[in-house]
Amino acid sequence: MSESLAETRAAITGWGKCLPPAVLTNDDLSTILDTSDEWIVSRTGIRERHVSHVGLEELAYVAAARALAAAGVQGSDIELIAFGSCSHDDQVPNMASGIQVRIGAHSAAAFDINTACTSFLYGLSAANALIRTGVVSRALVIGAELISPFMDWADRDVAVLFGDGAAAVVLEATRREEGVLAEKLGCYGEARETLRVEGMGGLYANRGVLYGVTRWRFEGQEIFRRAVHGMATASLAALARAGLTPDDVDLVVPHQANLRIIEAVARRAGVPMERVYVNIARHGNMSAATLPVALCEALEEGRVRPGALLLLPGFGAGLSFGAQLVRWGRRTTPLGSSAVELPPNEASALDLIRACLARKLHAADSRAPQPWQQAAALPRGSKAPG
Ligand code: ACO
Repeated sequence: MSESLAETRAAITGWGKCLPPAVLTNDDLSTILDTSDEWIVSRTGIRERHVSHVGLEELAYVAAARALAAAGVQGSDIELIAFGSCSHDDQVPNMASGIQVRIGAHSAAAFDINTACTSFLYGLSAANALIRTGVVSRALVIGAELISPFMDWADRDVAVLFGDGAAAVVLEATRREEGVLAEKLGCYGEARETLRVEGMGGLYANRGVLYGVTRWRFEGQEIFRRAVHGMATASLAALARAGLTPDDVDLVVPHQANLRIIEAVARRAGVPMERVYVNIARHGNMSAATLPVALCEALEEGRVRPGALLLLPGFGAGLSFGAQLVRWGRRTTPLGSSAVELPPNEASALDLIRACLARKLHAADSRAPQPWQQAAALPRGSKAPG
């Protein structure tokens, strides 16, 4: 098909990630929890994860700046920012508007999406639709998560699974057959109670619950079963919509919650593990950030060749699930790099967690001043809430 007659699509032209420098190993975790490296690796595939010393906006801003540089565009070129996350610095104003200011995307629309771990996939889907229908021609889609302040560090069932991080992609309108070719989104709402983080919403307001103090209700095995079913079903549905088969897929870049889930999805979707990108050992589950970080690292490691067909399946609380089929473009290297960096950090990951726990204990003392009474002392986006 000639380019002029072809329909508009949304190509991924820039990508960037931001991982905070402090690394929490399984051995570190076994000093504060009744767990072991052997249990965590054999049940999940996770060896270490990152813990952030800064707030969510800062992580996302650095990732966004890197994605813009990789695409060779300015913030002012961006017309839409979709920010996927469930661990906001603030609910009001939203996170996307903060990124709009930081990158100078003055005329951009800016919204947040929360479908937990699939928030990046859902954001990609929304941005893709708005580009394909001509509403905007250039979008920034972010998946970023700051789980550590919300983690119940006394609960070994969940504390070993998650990490902090951020990544972003730039989407640009093209007449070439690139970008999202087909997709399938869904949600097993009837199973939504299998994964609930109590303490993060209005249900708990004015009931003596301290923000940041959470209890994770988590049915690991049921989530596991639904995750495999949802990701495999969505993958096959997206392929069918595009008239393609598993043999056509060059690389699967899945959400990474558990290595055994990834292996089961690959088996069911009919793609051998050699064509599946896995980085869970280094990062754990970063929720919305997982998939775009994996995409960035697959590119950095030369696993994405020009014109490759990528399959991006994911699942998250809700229980939401989905899969995108993406045709990569000609360029697999960034056009430029960004000078933007995170503020330096000297603290170890365990120090950061201990500081987080200390803030929770301190806040539990009703005589303690509320954070906004100290607001002048808190530079915006510079410190993780706890
Ligand atoms: N260290 C040591 N032992 C542990 C730990 C730990 N960190 N956590 C649980 N155990 C124990 C349990 O208490 C249990 O002990 P018991 O037999 O004496 O009762 C035993 O290990 C087995 O526990 P299971 O829950 O049966 O372990 P399973 O093999 O199912 O693995 C896991 C648990 C890793 C959570 C798995 O079910 C899973 O990956 N589930 C889905 C993944 C997931 O939920 N990811 C996050 C979803 S959020 C998202 O991505 C949207």
